Amino acid sequence: MRGAFIVVEGLDRSGKTTQVANLQAKLESSGTPVKLFKFPDRTTAIGQMIDSYLRSQSELDDQAIHLLFSANRWELATSIESLLEQGTTVVCDRYAFSGVAFSAAKGLPLEWCRAPDSGLPAPDLTIFFDISPEAARARGGYGEERYEKEQLQRRVRELFDVLASEFDDERWVTVDAGRSKEEVAGEVWKYAAALVGKVSPQVDKLWVP
Ligand code: TMP
Repeated sequence: MRGAFIVVEGLDRSGKTTQVANLQAKLESSGTPVKLFKFPDRTTAIGQMIDSYLRSQSELDDQAIHLLFSANRWELATSIESLLEQGTTVVCDRYAFSGVAFSAAKGLPLEWCRAPDSGLPAPDLTIFFDISPEAARARGGYGEERYEKEQLQRRVRELFDVLASEFDDERWVTVDAGRSKEEVAGEVWKYAAALVGKVSPQVDKLWVP
């Protein structure tokens, strides 16, 4: 049985990273082999260019940074697919949906943004962490990186809604991330536990008709 591919998406400050670590620990203790990915992966050569851009240490055209974010996923796509085929569950902190939502929020056409990620391994489930931009700001931390601005995050949230509307309830679920860590963790676990061991043998391709 192949591993499940679970993506966690959401706005900045929605608590994704904490919950992804928690999910990894729970999967491990339930005996499910699991590997965590995080995009952008800032450790690769491409990831270092992205990191420098996000920390405003370099400037790039919107199109160029968009393609680097996508290339950063493609450079790990084969590893993700092999792990899934070997039976390892892959949990991913952000994926192509962030890629499209953030770049389209800056004004690039949505379909242009989607094209470079078309054909990547498709998640079996995307868990979207929904939090109002006001609540995210109240958690502290906005303003440290380039995209952490309330108006942009508002537009990103609308674009995530557009992307979500293309998936059925089996493939995309929204979790209210404004609640306590424990409540959110409980709901995430409910979705993950229902999926692991029940995925179809084939890994689908994202955004391929
Ligand atoms: P992080 O805080 O999760 O490391 O993400 C860094 C920022 O990069 C965050 O504001 C979302 C943004 N982003 C994109 O613009 N495009 C992408 O493809 C990804 C994965 C993230």
